[in-house]
Amino acid sequence: MEEKQTIIALKHVTKSFEDGVTVVDDFNLDVKEGEFITILGPSGCGKTTTLRMIAGFELPSSGEILLNGQDISLLPPNKRPVNTVFQHYALFPHLDVYDNVAFGLRLKKVPVETVNRKGEKVIKMKRLPAKVIDEKVARALHVVDLDEMEDRDVSTLSGGQQQRVAIARAIVNEPKVLLLDEPLSALDHKMRKDMQVELKEMHKRLGITFFYVTHDQEEALTMSDRIIVMSRGVIQQIGTPEDIYNEPVNAFVADFIGESNIYNGTMMSGTTVRFIGGTWTCPKEEGFEVNEKVDIVIRPEDVLLGQEGKGVVDGVIVGKIFKGVHYEFTINVGKNEVLCRDTHDHEVGAKVSISVEPNNIQLMHKKLTINEFTDAVIDKANNVIIGEDAYECDVTQLLTGSHLDEDGYLISKDGKKYDLNGCPVIAEIALDKVEISDDLSSGNTQGEIIAAVWIGDHYQYIIRTEDEEDFIVNSPYSWMVHDTVALSVAKEDIVLRLKKGIEDYEID
Ligand SMILES: Nc1ncnc2c1ncn2[C@@H]1O[C@H](COP(=O)(O)OP(=O)(O)O)[C@@H](O)[C@H]1O
Ligand SMILES: [Mg+2]
Repeated sequence: MEEKQTIIALKHVTKSFEDGVTVVDDFNLDVKEGEFITILGPSGCGKTTTLRMIAGFELPSSGEILLNGQDISLLPPNKRPVNTVFQHYALFPHLDVYDNVAFGLRLKKVPVETVNRKGEKVIKMKRLPAKVIDEKVARALHVVDLDEMEDRDVSTLSGGQQQRVAIARAIVNEPKVLLLDEPLSALDHKMRKDMQVELKEMHKRLGITFFYVTHDQEEALTMSDRIIVMSRGVIQQIGTPEDIYNEPVNAFVADFIGESNIYNGTMMSGTTVRFIGGTWTCPKEEGFEVNEKVDIVIRPEDVLLGQEGKGVVDGVIVGKIFKGVHYEFTINVGKNEVLCRDTHDHEVGAKVSISVEPNNIQLMHKKLTINEFTDAVIDKANNVIIGEDAYECDVTQLLTGSHLDEDGYLISKDGKKYDLNGCPVIAEIALDKVEISDDLSSGNTQGEIIAAVWIGDHYQYIIRTEDEEDFIVNSPYSWMVHDTVALSVAKEDIVLRLKKGIEDYEID
């Protein structure tokens, strides 16, 4: 296959707003001509900001944006061969379909060669002739499957039809790149599915580059040639949908893309790893050391159920959903949940054993720069639960500009109200923000020191709590392996991130 030209390149693009927070951090990407590329990430991760910089509505704080090799960082939006379909598209309600689509074309002036009174050739900027506008509008409406709808009032159209008018309005300018910012988020589920298929077809028909943004992993997986998974302003992984699903580079991507079982594990030897209370055989991979903390990812379809006592760990089936071809079981193994997809039926309440083929246990290095608890949850007192222990934390950091009202509900800056009870989050604690004490009555929890290493000027400890959460702690003080210690973390030292959107926790 011939190598396609790069149409857009972002080189070390960084954006910080006045408040000093970096929302896009060293973003590097080459987009090929004609590609359907999607940025996928949770809300607030910097997707819209990235798109707005490509469109020219926002300037990068540093870095370059190239179009066909030319730096366009300073070109105003109307001089860029890109058009945007926004998340909250605003059609003109008092205009009909034709006028909505033709609006931009009527304002446009194009260079036209004419002859002046002296008989000299001159270039004049002229508006497009009505006939040309007619043709362009008709073509755009045809692409979005709205032929014959020119005269309809947009207020009489369905949500899906309005969305197609918004797309027609963008493509009528014949952009080289169409930027789409969550264009389907206002539609209901059925309509969204239909529009996904239609957008994909439009992309084929138009042959132009689509740069799409969504927080919906299924949407990204079904439509894109390539996906960029983003978290907190940083690209986590770029790859085809298959790459990203099958070979996630870290626990964040694995968790965000489709359903996964993700656990904190500890390497016991080169080929055994301990997690959820069992010791599992895993593939031998280079670069994992004994006692290293690892992330474990297991896809639900790779979880094998068997007779109690015959697998690696035992559990109880606590949930069952029939999904047409297979069942989806939730199994409690101690305090851990295991999701399993199986074509055989089992009863809720049944005791089963769990095993996994070694090759289906995916090991990933943990960043040892921080304690990251990927299955934390907010409780009704707005504490964060890590393992089984509650820690005081500041939940307002989950939503920029929010505050708590007197009843403990989170209020966003635009007045929306959220009940965070049960909201899954990722909690991060820096290694030197965990206090160790031998006063066991103090602190949030207790744990046993299972490993200690002297790192130049301080010790690094791994401390395992009773419910098998491991904390990595830096400390100048010397403790012994097997000591039991109390751990405490100050409220302001717990950094929280949403795992999924916060929408589900909105109340009225
Ligand atoms: N004009 C702005 N000034 C300050 N902060 C902003 C501005 N625009 C966006 N942000 C912040 O940047 C972060 C990323 O926002 P955004 O790009 O809209 O995320 P996404 O589209 O992924 O939901 C958010 O924390 C948001 O509050
Ligand atoms: Mg956005």
